[in-house]
Amino acid sequence: TDRTALGPLVGAIDQGTSSSRFLVFNAKTAELLSHHQVEISQKFPKEGWVEQDPKEILNSVFECVEKTCEKLKQLNINISNIKAIGVTNQRETTVVWDKTTGEPLYNAIVWLDLRTQSTVERLLNRIPGKNKAFSKFKTGLPLSTYFSAVKLRWLLDNVEEIKKAVDDGRAMFGTIDSWLIWSLTGGKNGGIHCTDVTNASRTMLFNIHSLEWDPELCQFFEIPMEILPKVRSSSEIYGLMKSGALTGVPISGCLGDQSAALVGQMCFQDGQAKNTYGTGCFLLCNTGQKSVFSEHGLITTIAYKLGRDKPVCYALEGSVAIAGAVVRWLRDNLGIAKSSQEVEKLAAEVGTSYGVYFVPAFSGLYAPYWEPSARGIICGLTQFTNKKHIAFAALEAVCFQTREILDAMNKDCGIPLSQLQVDGGMTNNKILMQLQADILCIPVVKPSMPETTALGAAMAAGAAEGVGVWSLNPGDWTAVTSERFEPQLNPEESEFRYARWKKAVLKSMGWETA
Ligand code: G3P
Repeated sequence: TDRTALGPLVGAIDQGTSSSRFLVFNAKTAELLSHHQVEISQKFPKEGWVEQDPKEILNSVFECVEKTCEKLKQLNINISNIKAIGVTNQRETTVVWDKTTGEPLYNAIVWLDLRTQSTVERLLNRIPGKNKAFSKFKTGLPLSTYFSAVKLRWLLDNVEEIKKAVDDGRAMFGTIDSWLIWSLTGGKNGGIHCTDVTNASRTMLFNIHSLEWDPELCQFFEIPMEILPKVRSSSEIYGLMKSGALTGVPISGCLGDQSAALVGQMCFQDGQAKNTYGTGCFLLCNTGQKSVFSEHGLITTIAYKLGRDKPVCYALEGSVAIAGAVVRWLRDNLGIAKSSQEVEKLAAEVGTSYGVYFVPAFSGLYAPYWEPSARGIICGLTQFTNKKHIAFAALEAVCFQTREILDAMNKDCGIPLSQLQVDGGMTNNKILMQLQADILCIPVVKPSMPETTALGAAMAAGAAEGVGVWSLNPGDWTAVTSERFEPQLNPEESEFRYARWKKAVLKSMGWETA
């Protein structure tokens, strides 16, 4: 093909928990032209603490942008055809920085971090009946270590520099999207301090109906509202890139990564759902313009709002904290293999856990339990057990956790999902996907375009008013399936294993109390 006549291109910055990436798509065909990826280090300074360096995150993004542009030039593709950039990000992770110096005032507290367990306890004591769901109808969320408000509370309570910066009017709060957009649009020299509705809906300070920061909740968490970013739609021009190879290109899309995957999987209709297997695992079901409240441990979140004048769409979400992270843990903490692929190979060699169950409740349990006191356990061990069985049990845990979410989703929605659309790094593992179909007893399907998260952000950016190089008209895009996994296990065997899993989950709960 003639690479010089491609037409408009759109870039996507995908800042995940494990890595940063920049990807460039052809806006006419959604073809991925080039990308670059950099792994992000995670710091575990104390038990249960997970931090990242906001500067390292920012630099990794700059590096990805520059390297991708170099690769495009080598392919003879003119980078001046890049008309817009979308940002998608790990959600909830909390950053506070100084707007006069542009420097972060503390490491980013990552969504998985558990340090706020006692903060949550303290706040619960102030709520009548210690009701974790006290703000469910405003925010869609239960009070948990997971969401940004408690992380921000912890920073205000414990970091002297941050308290001072707030008093001096120098502090800015943001999730990773805000930190990146502010820095990329000029930082201390006029950077734009904003976020989008999907990211705001993960803070527990945002009213998902009025689409505004909630003064009562800010008062409850004692958060000064002047440090919060301005909330915008997921598709509009926020500002222009102020440095590097793409200087002058508008940043015009912003979506939390799970929302972006929903868009990238073309789940625009009420009742369409996707499950993304990354560090964690997140099943989102589009409920259209209606916010649905779960009776079975799911959360209500904003799916997207693709334009200032476009309606907001909601999703029911089942969040699982540990998916890919358990494979990384077997590699890095137990050293049972040198790479994630090797862990998967070990599992494949046995094809069974031989009665071993592994509940990776490293960050407590999220949906449907919301139990911060849970801790990881491996049970059912015998003299016969070896590392291969443990590797298999780890993969099976990812599938069982998804089954729990799917069961809850089916109960809340009334109409059971007849198949599961999947994406994310782990879906390259065919054994895992087959196991998932076996445990769910429904088919699992993969789209032909695996980069759904980045694609969703690029679509939002390309469709923004004033950019207009990507059409989001329903019917213009439909997902094309590339692989389909049919359940092969006898359902009785599947139910038996699932019942055992639930028994193991019960054992993991209540291990650690705040
Ligand atoms: O809520 C956390 C989620 O956004 C993280 O996604 O892909 O980094 O596991 P991921």
